[in-house]
Amino acid sequence: MRTRPAAAAILCLLALGLAAPAAPSPGPAQAQAPDRLQWFRDAKFGLFIHWGVYSMIGREQWARQLLQIPLAQYQDYADNFNPVGFNPDEWAALAKEAGVKYVVITSKHHDGFAIFDSAYTDYDIMHAKYGRDILGPLSVSMKKAGIPLGFYYSIMDWHHPDYLPRRPWEKDRTTQGADFGRYMDFAVNQIKELVTKYDPAVLWFDGEWEHSNEEQRAFAIGKMLLEMKPALLINDRLWRREPGFGDFGTPENYVPATGVRNPDGSPRLWEACYTMNWNGWGYNRYETEFHSATQLIRQLIEIVSKGGNLLLNIGPQPDGRIQAEFAARLREMGAWLKTNGEAVYGTTASVFERLPFFGRCTVKGTTLYIHVMGWPADGRIVLPGLRTEVKKAALLTGPGRPLTFKRSDQGVVITLPDRERDPAATVVVVELQGPPVVEPWTIGAGKDGRIDLPVYLADIQSEMGQRAYLDFFYRTTMLTNWQNVNDYPEWTFTTDKPGTFEVLATYASMWGGQAAYEVEIDSRKLAAKTESSPSLYFPATFPVGQVLLPVGPHKLRVRITSIANNHAMNLEKIALVPVMK
Ligand code: GLC
Repeated sequence: MRTRPAAAAILCLLALGLAAPAAPSPGPAQAQAPDRLQWFRDAKFGLFIHWGVYSMIGREQWARQLLQIPLAQYQDYADNFNPVGFNPDEWAALAKEAGVKYVVITSKHHDGFAIFDSAYTDYDIMHAKYGRDILGPLSVSMKKAGIPLGFYYSIMDWHHPDYLPRRPWEKDRTTQGADFGRYMDFAVNQIKELVTKYDPAVLWFDGEWEHSNEEQRAFAIGKMLLEMKPALLINDRLWRREPGFGDFGTPENYVPATGVRNPDGSPRLWEACYTMNWNGWGYNRYETEFHSATQLIRQLIEIVSKGGNLLLNIGPQPDGRIQAEFAARLREMGAWLKTNGEAVYGTTASVFERLPFFGRCTVKGTTLYIHVMGWPADGRIVLPGLRTEVKKAALLTGPGRPLTFKRSDQGVVITLPDRERDPAATVVVVELQGPPVVEPWTIGAGKDGRIDLPVYLADIQSEMGQRAYLDFFYRTTMLTNWQNVNDYPEWTFTTDKPGTFEVLATYASMWGGQAAYEVEIDSRKLAAKTESSPSLYFPATFPVGQVLLPVGPHKLRVRITSIANNHAMNLEKIALVPVMK
């Protein structure tokens, strides 16, 4: 670890302030007065379900738009929707087994079809072949299982004659006489209907991007809903995802590198919604790519360590059954949570800005949970800058034998056992004498002047459609599955002497010369082509160029500029080695 304590006098209680989302003063979750958000803040893991008429086509939830299916033909699907295999008790049992603490299902998606009994339209489940309500029985089953149920509701509606605009290809559908205000009357009626009829815990809006908050009556709807049900939670999309609106933010298919904050800088409650497969939310008959259960467990940990919830999606089949790939992954996650759930549910965000190994931290009062995902070669993990006395360290699962620990000038060093590893994440429970006090540290040069930037010290910046993630490859951690040019690692480090550095990149790649990347250091860019290493799993070190750095803080990013065979490289680290003159 090349670390350097920052201004030693500044002790940072609950570093980052991420530990207590939405509370005015930082502190352990248990000490806060319960509020309407508390159950959601503690829940951490929810199940998202995209299901409707589009599931019959098997080309995800945008099928009608992607395939340009005229309304008359789509009506045929709506008429024939007949999910005879739908068994709400089975869904509730699977949700329970998965360890999710709430479920959100599409009541009406962009196609406009309501999978509930709606008095305001014939375009609903009662008028389909099935002819029976879905959300009613599902609400009952979830209630029995003790799992709060929420409803997704799309404001965009491709079916309602008053919804505007039409899809650009719908040349035959007139807009004459259409009145968006009248559509909103209809939507408000359906939204009210959902609350009075089914008493949901959450309303999860979407499809809000075609109109302004005023046109969509966002504020009036929000007010109305809270008057109807003060405990109801509403996501930010009713207000077009504007920062600070709604009960929680909704990053989609990516993890914000440092959590989510309100405009005033206070931590914000957030929930990352994620697909379990790569392509689409509704049933995709042609899908072949699914995240592994290991990856999903780590994703959950990653999100929770940054103060968020994971809303993990499945798209049931048109007949109401849940495909094996989804069910198996949910069960594997549930099995991990069964023994490790204590380190997830009811926890707050990490007290460390970063850890010097591939691991994440969650907190409950005076207990730290260290989720170890990459096993350091020397079998030791360092908790950097931890000032609070440690009472005990032990593995969460297994015989609970205490682990040895000692204090070094870098923090607290814990020796891991050589066995008993969980392939997804091994949780070490660290009991402290009091609330965690952590001294922040900045990345800087080691004694030899060299600056090492392994990927586990980076913020992984990304946006919707994140592909890259960290993984452990036998003896080292690398950023892998790096196919999206919008994903990049970013490090902040400080130099206290000016100097010229040789920039070295350590990565594994198989397609030498075919992919390209750039190392950006402050405003300079060094471009390079990837070279071949011994294997895709075994990295080698390659020179990238030289850079002259003044004293002070710096930002370094690696960006891929072209990929080969769906891949850029597995990146282990960047090193800056001083050039002796
Ligand atoms: C995207 C999709 C929408 C899906 C939603 C889930 O906005 O367009 O179809 O329901 O993600 O967050």
